Amino acid sequence: MKRIVFLTGAGMSVESGFKTFRGNDGLWEDYPVEQIATHEGWLANPTLVNNFYNRLRKKLYAAEPNEGHLLIKELEKDYDVTVITQNVDNLHEKAGTEKIIHLHGELTKVCSSKDPDDHRYIVELPADHCEVEPGQLAGDGSLLRPFIVFFGEAVPMIEPAAELVAQADMLVIIGTSLVVYPAAGLVQYTRPGTPIYLIDPDDTPTRASGRLTHIKKGASEGMKEFIKLL
Ligand code: OAD
Repeated sequence: MKRIVFLTGAGMSVESGFKTFRGNDGLWEDYPVEQIATHEGWLANPTLVNNFYNRLRKKLYAAEPNEGHLLIKELEKDYDVTVITQNVDNLHEKAGTEKIIHLHGELTKVCSSKDPDDHRYIVELPADHCEVEPGQLAGDGSLLRPFIVFFGEAVPMIEPAAELVAQADMLVIIGTSLVVYPAAGLVQYTRPGTPIYLIDPDDTPTRASGRLTHIKKGASEGMKEFIKLL
Protein backbone atom coordinates (compact mmCIF):
# COMPACT_ATOMS: atom_id res chain seq x y z
CA MET A 1 0.00 0.00 0.00
CA LYS A 2 1.23 3.47 -0.83
CA ARG A 3 1.93 5.69 2.14
CA ILE A 4 0.18 9.06 2.34
CA VAL A 5 1.23 11.38 5.14
CA PHE A 6 -1.01 14.34 5.98
CA LEU A 7 0.37 17.36 7.81
CA THR A 8 -2.54 19.36 9.19
CA GLY A 9 -2.91 22.72 10.94
CA ALA A 10 -5.59 25.03 12.29
CA GLY A 11 -7.27 25.43 8.85
CA MET A 12 -8.22 21.74 8.96
CA SER A 13 -10.66 22.47 11.79
CA VAL A 14 -12.12 25.79 10.55
CA GLU A 15 -15.12 24.00 9.02
CA SER A 16 -15.73 22.38 12.43
CA GLY A 17 -16.08 25.82 14.03
CA PHE A 18 -12.54 26.60 15.23
CA LYS A 19 -10.47 29.67 14.49
CA THR A 20 -6.99 29.73 12.97
CA PHE A 21 -4.06 31.24 14.87
CA ARG A 22 -2.90 33.88 12.46
CA GLY A 23 -6.22 34.76 10.88
CA ASN A 24 -7.16 37.60 13.21
CA ASP A 25 -4.24 39.81 14.25
CA GLY A 26 -2.34 37.23 16.25
CA LEU A 27 -5.37 36.40 18.35
CA TRP A 28 -6.40 32.82 18.86
CA GLU A 29 -10.03 32.32 19.88
CA ASP A 30 -9.92 36.03 20.89
CA TYR A 31 -6.82 35.88 23.14
CA PRO A 32 -3.26 37.08 22.43
CA VAL A 33 -1.20 34.00 21.63
CA GLU A 34 1.56 35.11 24.09
CA GLN A 35 -0.89 34.99 26.97
CA ILE A 36 -2.29 31.53 26.42
CA ALA A 37 0.22 29.60 24.30
CA THR A 38 3.64 30.42 25.70
CA HIS A 39 5.62 29.13 28.63
CA GLU A 40 5.87 32.71 29.98
CA GLY A 41 2.11 33.14 29.75
CA TRP A 42 1.60 29.97 31.78
CA LEU A 43 4.04 31.11 34.49
CA ALA A 44 2.43 34.57 34.65
CA ASN A 45 -1.13 33.35 35.09
CA PRO A 46 -1.78 29.61 35.23
CA THR A 47 -5.45 30.06 36.15
CA LEU A 48 -6.13 32.23 33.10
CA VAL A 49 -4.40 29.66 30.90
CA ASN A 50 -6.29 26.73 32.43
CA ASN A 51 -9.60 28.61 32.13
CA PHE A 52 -8.92 29.35 28.47
CA TYR A 53 -8.27 25.68 27.68
CA ASN A 54 -11.22 24.62 29.86
CA ARG A 55 -13.52 26.66 27.61
CA LEU A 56 -11.88 25.39 24.45
CA ARG A 57 -12.10 21.78 25.72
CA LYS A 58 -15.83 22.18 26.37
CA LYS A 59 -16.27 23.54 22.86
CA LEU A 60 -14.23 20.66 21.46
CA TYR A 61 -16.33 18.00 23.15
CA ALA A 62 -19.36 19.46 21.37
CA ALA A 63 -17.61 19.72 17.97
CA GLU A 64 -17.71 17.29 15.07
CA PRO A 65 -15.15 16.40 12.43
CA ASN A 66 -15.84 17.98 9.04
CA GLU A 67 -15.95 16.33 5.64
CA GLY A 68 -12.23 16.92 5.21
CA HIS A 69 -11.43 14.86 8.33
CA LEU A 70 -13.82 12.13 7.16
CA LEU A 71 -12.34 11.96 3.66
CA ILE A 72 -8.85 11.47 5.15
CA LYS A 73 -10.24 8.52 7.14
CA GLU A 74 -11.86 7.08 3.98
CA LEU A 75 -8.50 6.89 2.25
CA GLU A 76 -7.42 4.21 4.73
CA LYS A 77 -9.33 1.72 2.52
CA ASP A 78 -6.76 2.10 -0.23
CA TYR A 79 -3.72 3.72 1.37
CA ASP A 80 -1.50 3.54 4.40
CA VAL A 81 -2.55 6.85 5.96
CA THR A 82 -0.81 8.74 8.76
CA VAL A 83 -1.86 12.14 10.06
CA ILE A 84 0.71 14.42 11.66
CA THR A 85 -1.23 17.28 13.16
CA GLN A 86 -0.29 20.55 14.79
CA ASN A 87 -3.83 20.75 16.09
CA VAL A 88 -4.59 20.01 19.71
CA ASP A 89 -8.19 19.03 18.96
CA ASN A 90 -9.30 15.39 18.64
CA LEU A 91 -11.25 15.73 15.39
CA HIS A 92 -9.01 13.34 13.44
CA GLU A 93 -9.63 10.79 16.22
CA LYS A 94 -13.38 11.44 16.09
CA ALA A 95 -13.29 10.88 12.33
CA GLY A 96 -11.76 7.47 13.05
CA THR A 97 -8.24 7.97 11.67
CA GLU A 98 -6.04 5.25 13.12
CA LYS A 99 -2.51 6.65 12.99
CA ILE A 100 -2.21 10.17 14.39
CA ILE A 101 0.78 12.05 15.73
CA HIS A 102 0.03 15.19 17.73
CA LEU A 103 3.01 17.52 17.48
CA HIS A 104 1.65 20.20 19.80
CA GLY A 105 -0.16 18.12 22.40
CA GLU A 106 -3.79 17.19 23.02
CA LEU A 107 -6.50 19.41 24.45
CA THR A 108 -8.41 16.45 25.90
CA LYS A 109 -5.48 15.75 28.23
CA VAL A 110 -3.83 17.46 31.22
CA CYS A 111 -0.42 16.87 32.70
CA SER A 112 2.18 17.83 35.30
CA SER A 113 3.56 21.35 35.00
CA LYS A 114 6.88 20.12 36.40
CA ASP A 115 7.40 17.66 33.55
CA PRO A 116 4.64 17.74 30.92
CA ASP A 117 6.04 14.64 29.21
CA ASP A 118 6.05 12.43 32.31
CA HIS A 119 3.51 9.87 31.12
CA ARG A 120 2.59 8.84 34.67
CA TYR A 121 0.75 12.13 35.11
CA ILE A 122 -0.88 12.61 31.72
CA VAL A 123 -4.62 12.19 32.20
CA GLU A 124 -7.50 12.37 29.72
CA LEU A 125 -10.44 14.41 30.99
CA PRO A 126 -13.90 12.97 30.29
CA ALA A 127 -16.48 15.15 28.52
CA ASP A 128 -18.68 15.43 31.64
CA HIS A 129 -15.74 16.47 33.85
CA CYS A 130 -13.49 18.39 31.52
CA GLU A 131 -12.42 21.41 33.56
CA VAL A 132 -9.26 21.96 35.60
CA GLU A 133 -10.09 23.73 38.88
CA PRO A 134 -7.86 26.62 40.05
CA GLY A 135 -5.04 25.18 42.16
CA GLN A 136 -5.75 21.56 41.12
CA LEU A 137 -2.60 19.42 41.30
CA ALA A 138 -1.09 16.68 39.17
CA GLY A 139 0.04 13.36 40.68
CA ASP A 140 3.52 14.77 41.35
CA GLY A 141 2.21 17.74 43.38
CA SER A 142 2.78 20.36 40.66
CA LEU A 143 -0.03 22.47 39.20
CA LEU A 144 -2.11 20.57 36.67
CA ARG A 145 -1.80 22.13 33.21
CA PRO A 146 -3.10 21.48 29.70
CA PHE A 147 -1.11 18.87 27.75
CA ILE A 148 -0.20 21.45 25.12
CA VAL A 149 3.26 22.26 23.78
CA PHE A 150 3.66 25.98 24.45
CA PHE A 151 5.96 28.21 22.44
CA GLY A 152 9.43 27.94 23.95
CA GLU A 153 9.01 24.25 24.82
CA ALA A 154 10.46 21.14 23.20
CA VAL A 155 8.44 19.21 20.59
CA PRO A 156 9.14 15.57 21.54
CA MET A 157 7.08 14.07 18.69
CA ILE A 158 9.07 15.78 15.95
CA GLU A 159 11.48 12.86 15.46
CA PRO A 160 8.89 10.13 14.84
CA ALA A 161 7.06 12.62 12.58
CA ALA A 162 10.21 13.29 10.54
CA GLU A 163 10.76 9.54 10.09
CA LEU A 164 7.23 9.12 8.75
CA VAL A 165 7.62 12.00 6.31
CA ALA A 166 10.87 10.46 5.09
CA GLN A 167 8.99 7.23 4.27
CA ALA A 168 6.00 8.90 2.63
CA ASP A 169 5.09 8.28 -1.01
CA MET A 170 3.03 11.47 -0.93
CA LEU A 171 2.73 14.41 1.48
CA VAL A 172 -0.49 16.38 1.78
CA ILE A 173 -0.39 19.62 3.77
CA ILE A 174 -3.74 21.05 4.88
CA GLY A 175 -4.54 24.38 6.54
CA THR A 176 -1.23 25.44 8.02
CA SER A 177 0.70 28.65 7.44
CA LEU A 178 3.94 26.66 7.85
CA VAL A 179 5.61 29.36 9.90
CA VAL A 180 6.01 27.52 13.21
CA TYR A 181 9.14 25.38 13.57
CA PRO A 182 10.04 22.60 13.93
CA ALA A 183 6.73 21.49 12.32
CA ALA A 184 7.27 23.64 9.21
CA GLY A 185 10.65 21.95 8.64
CA LEU A 186 9.04 18.52 8.21
CA VAL A 187 8.50 19.22 4.50
CA GLN A 188 12.29 19.06 4.05
CA TYR A 189 12.31 15.38 5.12
CA THR A 190 10.42 14.17 2.04
CA ARG A 191 12.50 12.00 -0.30
CA PRO A 192 13.49 13.70 -3.56
CA GLY A 193 10.66 13.56 -6.08
CA THR A 194 7.92 12.85 -3.53
CA PRO A 195 4.75 14.62 -4.66
CA ILE A 196 3.56 17.31 -2.24
CA TYR A 197 0.04 18.72 -2.23
CA LEU A 198 -1.08 21.79 -0.34
CA ILE A 199 -4.77 22.34 0.44
CA ASP A 200 -5.29 25.92 1.64
CA PRO A 201 -7.54 28.72 0.38
CA ASP A 202 -4.67 31.20 0.76
CA ASP A 203 -1.12 31.29 -0.53
CA THR A 204 1.24 29.70 1.98
CA PRO A 205 4.95 30.27 1.64
CA THR A 206 6.92 27.04 1.61
CA ARG A 207 10.41 26.24 0.48
CA ALA A 208 9.10 23.15 -1.31
CA SER A 209 7.00 25.29 -3.66
CA GLY A 210 8.83 24.04 -6.78
CA ARG A 211 7.35 20.55 -6.54
CA LEU A 212 4.12 21.42 -4.84
CA THR A 213 0.59 21.23 -6.22
CA HIS A 214 -1.54 23.91 -4.57
CA ILE A 215 -5.25 23.12 -4.33
CA LYS A 216 -6.52 26.55 -3.41
CA LYS A 217 -9.63 25.51 -1.50
CA GLY A 218 -10.84 24.84 2.03
CA ALA A 219 -10.21 21.46 3.67
CA SER A 220 -13.38 19.63 2.57
CA GLU A 221 -13.56 20.85 -1.04
CA GLY A 222 -9.79 20.56 -1.29
CA MET A 223 -9.83 16.92 -0.15
CA LYS A 224 -12.48 16.11 -2.77
CA GLU A 225 -10.27 17.60 -5.45
CA PHE A 226 -7.19 15.81 -4.14
CA ILE A 227 -9.01 12.45 -4.24
CA LYS A 228 -9.96 13.08 -7.88
CA LEU A 229 -6.27 13.58 -8.69
CA LEU A 230 -5.24 10.26 -7.10
P1 OAD B 1 -2.25 29.30 11.21
O1 OAD B 1 -3.35 30.11 11.78
O2 OAD B 1 -0.88 29.88 11.22
O3 OAD B 1 -2.59 28.92 9.70
C1 OAD B 1 -3.86 28.45 9.34
C2 OAD B 1 -3.91 28.19 7.85
O4 OAD B 1 -5.19 27.65 7.56
C3 OAD B 1 -3.72 29.43 6.97
O5 OAD B 1 -2.75 29.16 5.97
C4 OAD B 1 -5.12 29.64 6.37
O6 OAD B 1 -5.07 30.16 5.04
C5 OAD B 1 -5.66 28.22 6.34
N1 OAD B 1 -7.12 28.08 6.29
C6 OAD B 1 -8.09 28.96 6.67
N2 OAD B 1 -9.32 28.44 6.47
C7 OAD B 1 -9.14 27.18 5.94
C8 OAD B 1 -10.03 26.13 5.53
N3 OAD B 1 -11.36 26.25 5.59
N4 OAD B 1 -9.47 25.00 5.04
C9 OAD B 1 -8.13 24.86 4.95
N5 OAD B 1 -7.25 25.81 5.33
C10 OAD B 1 -7.75 26.95 5.82
O7 OAD B 1 -2.27 27.88 11.97
P2 OAD B 1 -1.15 26.75 12.05
O8 OAD B 1 -0.25 26.79 10.88
O9 OAD B 1 -1.84 25.49 12.39
O10 OAD B 1 0.90 25.93 18.11
O11 OAD B 1 -0.34 27.22 13.32
C11 OAD B 1 0.77 26.47 13.74
C12 OAD B 1 0.91 26.49 15.24
O12 OAD B 1 0.97 27.83 15.70
C13 OAD B 1 -0.25 25.89 15.99
O13 OAD B 1 -0.21 24.50 16.11
C14 OAD B 1 -0.14 26.53 17.33
C15 OAD B 1 0.22 27.94 16.93
O14 OAD B 1 0.94 28.61 17.84
C16 OAD B 1 0.65 25.50 19.35
O15 OAD B 1 -0.46 25.41 19.83
C17 OAD B 1 1.87 25.10 20.10
